[in-house]
Amino acid sequence: MAISIRKNNLIYPYFVVSGKEKKEKINSFPGQFRFSVDCLLKDINELDSLGIDKVLLFGIADKKDEKASSAYAEDNIVGFAVREIKKQFPHITVFADVCLCAYTSDGDCHLKSHANTLKALSRMALRHAEAGADYVAPSAIARGQVKAIRKALDDAGYQKTRIMGYSAKFASNFYGPFRNAAKSAPKSGDRSKYQLDYNDAKSALKKIREDVKEGADIVMVKPALSYLDIIRDAKRKIRAPLAAYSVSGEYVMLKYGAARGLWDEKKAVFEITSAIKRAGADYIITYYAKDIARWLRE
Ligand code: PBG
Repeated sequence: MAISIRKNNLIYPYFVVSGKEKKEKINSFPGQFRFSVDCLLKDINELDSLGIDKVLLFGIADKKDEKASSAYAEDNIVGFAVREIKKQFPHITVFADVCLCAYTSDGDCHLKSHANTLKALSRMALRHAEAGADYVAPSAIARGQVKAIRKALDDAGYQKTRIMGYSAKFASNFYGPFRNAAKSAPKSGDRSKYQLDYNDAKSALKKIREDVKEGADIVMVKPALSYLDIIRDAKRKIRAPLAAYSVSGEYVMLKYGAARGLWDEKKAVFEITSAIKRAGADYIITYYAKDIARWLRE
């Protein structure tokens, strides 16, 4: 069987907490952890030796408030993590997520006013850029977020910091384990006000086009498995490099099925990840990245 997935297609997500010697298990998210930076570096050492060279970082807030102020505080946890990673592993490409849901008291990705949301997201992106992130990845789905962040980065002299837009992000049922990890579940309601309806293929393409126009260097479709048609459409119609996020719910489905003996984990992961690549993803963000690298060696 020819395997088409390459290690350099893969991006591995990490959850970062403050403190030391922490590698916390996450409810309903087997095999994934919240790491303090010292432990994160050890894990990245392993990732590095497996030949994966791209990581996506999510911060977990110690303190939440109405302004999401720890998202863009000078001593924010993601900035600290990025600096330490870049010191030890300069060849690793670091993507840093830009969203407020882990930092707001109500778990909303946005602040009360649109203008303040864009300001907060821009300040957060700027913090990541100062720390040395290669990419910032806005996932709040606020209108004009890519444009605002691009301008803030350029104005501050960070023309080289690139942007991966969460361009077509659907209001999905499959984000549950992630929200446990990031402690970012909305306190009330869902995110259907700003995330796309799963039937709405048309808006997905429109959003991706808008992100390219606003200055995104990589565009993304999220989730992956239920949206292979969107990935294929985007690949055919849009020239920017394309990422697909195989989200936490997709990962746990595979994990739980394998744990029940319903399928062979490795074979099932290769089948699904190959499908995401076949549909057109240049990059695949997956919690299975390390396992895939290990299995590719066998
Ligand atoms: C934040 C965000 C979410 C994910 C990544 N960034 C969840 C959400 O919209 O609540 C989900 C990723 C996953 O499930 O693996 N806005």
